[in-house]
Amino acid sequence: MASKYQAPRGTFDVLPEQARGRARLERAAADVFGHAGYEPIATPVFEDTDLFERGVGQSTDIVRKEMFTFEDKGGRSLTLRPEGTASICRAYLEHGMQKLAQPVKLFYLGPFFRHERPQAGRYRQFHQLGIECIGTDSPLADAEVIMLLSELLAELGVPGVELRLGSLGSFEARRAYLEDLKAHLHAHEGELSKDVRERIDLNPLRAFDSDDEGTRAVMASAPTIVEQLEGEDAEHFAEVRALLDAAGVAYVVDPTLVRGLDYYTRTIFSFVCDRLGAQSEIGGGGRYDGLIEQLGGPPTPAVGFAAGIERILLALDEEVPAPGRDAFVAIADEAQRQRAMALAIELRHAGISAEVDLAGRGLKGQLKHANRIGARRVLILEADGSAQVRDMETGEQRPADLGNLVGEMKGGGE
Ligand code: HAM
Repeated sequence: MASKYQAPRGTFDVLPEQARGRARLERAAADVFGHAGYEPIATPVFEDTDLFERGVGQSTDIVRKEMFTFEDKGGRSLTLRPEGTASICRAYLEHGMQKLAQPVKLFYLGPFFRHERPQAGRYRQFHQLGIECIGTDSPLADAEVIMLLSELLAELGVPGVELRLGSLGSFEARRAYLEDLKAHLHAHEGELSKDVRERIDLNPLRAFDSDDEGTRAVMASAPTIVEQLEGEDAEHFAEVRALLDAAGVAYVVDPTLVRGLDYYTRTIFSFVCDRLGAQSEIGGGGRYDGLIEQLGGPPTPAVGFAAGIERILLALDEEVPAPGRDAFVAIADEAQRQRAMALAIELRHAGISAEVDLAGRGLKGQLKHANRIGARRVLILEADGSAQVRDMETGEQRPADLGNLVGEMKGGGE
């Protein structure tokens, strides 16, 4: 009978058949990032609400509408982390990582929480993997970070991926540009959607993301920051592009690219996949040279990305088969139970997967069960202490040499 309880809206269970694909993805990420010297880090799933309000930005949808915020028993306001970058910058400062050799290169994965309207590829609890490269403003770091996500997606075989690249310029350039953009939006106020109109002064960049027809028409003639980049900002962006070109990483420059977090400066990027529906972004990120200072630290340039684990898995759409079992240790007589357990443990120590009956089945039932779980060989312990080994593929059965238990169950026997 189905239980009256269901997983909360926007959440899901990861069942064993799905966990296998996830584990493969997580291993591949740890390999790709680990080989480039990124070290694992984990931070708490909740933090002071203020960290995200400051870090992610008051004007973002995340802070305005999507945070799971609660008060703890001490009256402190806490929030389930909606993203990882602010937490990692907090940890960087808290543990004095600015004293280490820079840049500090970190890799993370885990659950994140946003109170969004659930749909395919969009959940309230989802999982991200990401890297942060903190302590350098070199375009080499931007290029490396982008290349690593590109490499991971290629390694996993994610089809139909496109990389979009943009630049927001430095904080000052961005501020000047935002004034131009606001002026453009104010000049066309009547043609904009209500949502965009209300946020002209708060977050004008989001107008580029609007689905509203009137707004889109206004945005088609809006100034873009990529066209206005000057001096070091222009050089930085040109260098990132040259490095990607040299590495053979394909991309399109998208002057209208914007992201849902306030902390970006200079490079921003987005990997989209044509196999996903409306939620087509697999992962993205960029440079956030002002964030650590914003959180009370010294000026510290940094760049990173996060990718949605569920979105990568949706794009891959593949089933990873259950691993076969090597051995099952069955008993023909109750008196052999303890011995069966001891032999199974011996096999496991030798790296052979081995199971025993845990449900009190008779021999026939045990053999049926061994067959069901796909055991390749069954060791049958007889009442007199002798043993038989049965090959489950051929059905062949013969006396077993317990002095060579591992060899018998591995398949060699001799
Ligand atoms: P973000 O663009 O908000 O960036 O999220 C990164 C990725 O997480 C998205 O591209 C998407 O694949 C996935 N994602 C976001 N929201 C959901 C959701 N509700 N359900 C499923 N997947 C989702 C950040 O979070 C930044 N911290 C990235 C970053 C790191 N920038 C610099 N360093």
